[in-house]
Order: sequence, then structure tokens, then C-alpha cells
Amino acid sequence: MTRSPWAGRFAEDPDQAVQDYTRSLHVDRRLAGYDIRGSRAHVRMLFRQGILSRRDRDRILQGLDQVEEEIRSGQFPYRDELEDIHMNIEVRLCELVGEEGRRLHTGRSRNDQVAVDLKLFCLDAALGWQEMIRRVQEALLARARSLQRELFPGWTHLQAAQPVSWAHYLLAYCDMFDRDHRRLAGYRRLHSVSPLGAGALAGSTLPLDPGWTARELGFTSSFENSYDVAGDRDFLLELLQIATQIMLHASRMAEDLIYFSSTPVGWVELPESLCTGSSMMPQKKNPDLLELCRGKTATVLGHASAMATLLKGLPSSYNRDLQQDKEHLFPAVDTVGETLGILTLVASRMRVVSSRIGPALERGFLTATDLAEHLVSLGVPFRTAHEQVGRLVAYCVKQNRTLRQLSLREIRKFAPRCGSDVRGVLKPEGALDHKFHSGSTGLASIRQQIARWEDRLRSHGNGNNSREDQP
Ligand code: ARG
Repeated sequence: MTRSPWAGRFAEDPDQAVQDYTRSLHVDRRLAGYDIRGSRAHVRMLFRQGILSRRDRDRILQGLDQVEEEIRSGQFPYRDELEDIHMNIEVRLCELVGEEGRRLHTGRSRNDQVAVDLKLFCLDAALGWQEMIRRVQEALLARARSLQRELFPGWTHLQAAQPVSWAHYLLAYCDMFDRDHRRLAGYRRLHSVSPLGAGALAGSTLPLDPGWTARELGFTSSFENSYDVAGDRDFLLELLQIATQIMLHASRMAEDLIYFSSTPVGWVELPESLCTGSSMMPQKKNPDLLELCRGKTATVLGHASAMATLLKGLPSSYNRDLQQDKEHLFPAVDTVGETLGILTLVASRMRVVSSRIGPALERGFLTATDLAEHLVSLGVPFRTAHEQVGRLVAYCVKQNRTLRQLSLREIRKFAPRCGSDVRGVLKPEGALDHKFHSGSTGLASIRQQIARWEDRLRSHGNGNNSREDQP
């Protein structure tokens, strides 16, 4: 058994149960690449500062290359008794290069080491999500372009409200995901601060240059207070909060589409390749994929709230509780990535079933508001117009007829200002043709939105996305 680097202090080996309980290797081996990156920067800094000789530096860098290659090729001898990936890499380095390897951890603690690894991981995840969000938006935009004139009965409270263009609906999700995209850009700016050099909590007596390692690792700046960053996990919690926000958007879209594609509604059809069947009922074609998106949102929210709970009441600086952060971070990051991929598929392949939507547009008095506004344009005060149209609707309900089935005479009994042009107002298409202001579901606004999105996503396609919000 390989003894741990702190064995000098101990006469006894830890109990097996203690080893098993404190180990995080099975989880944090995922940080290996970041750990090696951090170590390379650290070793180069130690040399620049005259703390390591050129020979030591070169031997360690060579050894780290070898460790990296062993990990890549699956040859790395992971050892459970060495707690975590950080100790595994360091001990293996010493085996490979000998004495010089024992200088790697100079002026460093696992506290700043794990913090820098996690930060690099989180910043990469944030950038990755930004790119995935752009792909979802591209898929939504492509569908919006071809569905500009297609309407569906928009609702509030799940009750028929006003006709809305499918393009407008899809672009609403472009906007929601864009807020997430901007949150991530802000996130990357805020947290681009390197903790490497903070040591255990108080820095080091050696002449370290944390600013240099920060630049070497691509951070905007280095920490201002070692005590702060040794125990800081704001960046991790915040990523999980943004993850929750992204998943909430995904989940609401999933819920919409589950409803749209439900048997009694049927306005949307999902391709078979995105559905699953039933083990008992032969006829079933279920949207399990979207239901799991909703379900996994609960899991990610759980991770975010577990992470907040982990931090609440935790003494400042490093405490071993923090080791648990990865158990919440990694699965949440995976789920967000997978979900954004699924949404891209669903958005590009769902089918709008116009034959089912047409009749639904005739029910529910969807144009009642437009009629009231038409009366306003004829000089009727809105409250009066609302009342007149309300009575008209009640009349229709009693007679089991639609507004469009009434004669002009009947309409004028309730709304005397109406002329024959009221027919155009009662058509669902009025939603597209009679709304002109920006942001509405009117055709002019939809065209404006599409043009704006084309512009935004074109500059992303040119590779500008990551640069424009470079931390
Ligand atoms: N595996 C540990 C973690 O993930 C590394 C830090 C251990 N530090 C310590 N002081 N015991 O947090």
C-alpha cells in the first residue's frame, strides 16, 4: 500500500473505513486534465521565481506529460488509498521522475489546487453551455422562419386567450435562453479569478507570483485575499443556479410540447425517433424524452439546493465538507449539456399539425380582445368596449356559436359602432396583420425578431461568440 504524503505525522495507517469514507477519487478523477494544467503553470511560476531549478522544472513537466499520457491511454494506476486525483497524480509523478517530483507541491495546498481545478472546469462548462444554447437558438430560429404565418390558440391559465404565431412562440424561447447565455457571459467575467497561490488559507512564505499563474491559466486576474478563495465556492453554486435556470426553461418548453402533442390536443407531432412505446399498450407513442427533461430539472434543482445547503453555516476558509461539491457539480453539468442537445433535436424535428390547429383557432373567442381594441379605434372607451364584447361572447356561449358565425346585425346589437370591416378583425389571421408594434405577435414584429436573431447568430457562426464575452 502506498502511504500518504502526510504519513510523517502518523504512526498508524488510517482504518479502511476511514479511507473509504474520505475518498473522492471515483468522482474527482474527472478533474485530472485541469489538475495537470494547474500544476504545469505552478511549476513554471516556481522556476521563474527562482524557487525551482530549470532541471527540476523540466523533469516535473516531463513527468506531467507522462502522467497525462497514461491517463489518456487508460494506463494510469489509480490508487484508492490515495484519496483523490490530486494525490494520485502527485504520487505517480514522483514514481516517474523521482526526487524532483517531490518539489511540485511547493507553496501549494490541495485547497488552492482543488479550487483552481474546479474553477477551470466551471468556466469551461459555462462556455460550453453558451455554445449549446446557440445551437438550440439556431434550431428554433430555423423553425420560426418557416412558421411565421402559422397560428395556434395562445393561452393564459391554459385557457384560450389570443392567436399567436408559432414563430413568435419559438422566438420567445430564443429570448429565454438568451438570458441564460448572458448570465453565463457575466458569470465568466465575474469568476475569472485564479485562486492558485492562496495555499491552505494564508498564502506562502515563498516568493510566489499568483498573478503570473493566473495569466498563464487564462484567468483575468488573481485572488486578492487568500483566505477568501481557499473556501470560496460561490462560483460553483452560481453555476448550479444558472444550470437550474436553464433547466427551468427547458422544462417549461418540454411541458408545452408534452401538452401540444397530447392526444386531446395534437397540435404538434414528435417523430417516432424521439418517442418511446409502452411495454403493455401496443398503440402507444409517448413523449418520455420530454418528461425526463422535466424530471431531470428537479434533479438539477436538487443539486443546486444541496450545494447551497452545503455552504450554509460552513465556517469560512476550507472545510472538508467542500469535497462533496463535485457530487453536485458533475451530474448537473452533464444533465444541462444533454438537455440542451435534446432540445436542439426536438426543436428541429417536431412537426406542427395545422389540420388539428385550424378548428381550434375557431373556438374560444380568441379574437375578442382584438374586437374590443377595434371598438377603441372607433372611439369607444376600452372599459365600455370590454363590456360590449363580453356581452357578445356571453350571447355566443348561450347560442353555442362563434363570433364569426354572427351576422353584422347581431354584432351591432351589442357593439353599435361596428361596421362591416369587423369581419377582418374576427379572423384569427388578424393577430398577424393588425398588430404592428415591436415585440408583438404581428408579422412585422416577427420579421424584426427574425432579422435580429439572424444577425446575432451569424456573428456566433463566425466564431465571435466566445470572443464577444471573453472574461
Ligand atoms: N479531495 C479534497 C477536496 O476535493 C481535496 C482537498 C483536501 N484538503 C484538505 N485540507 N484535506 O476538497
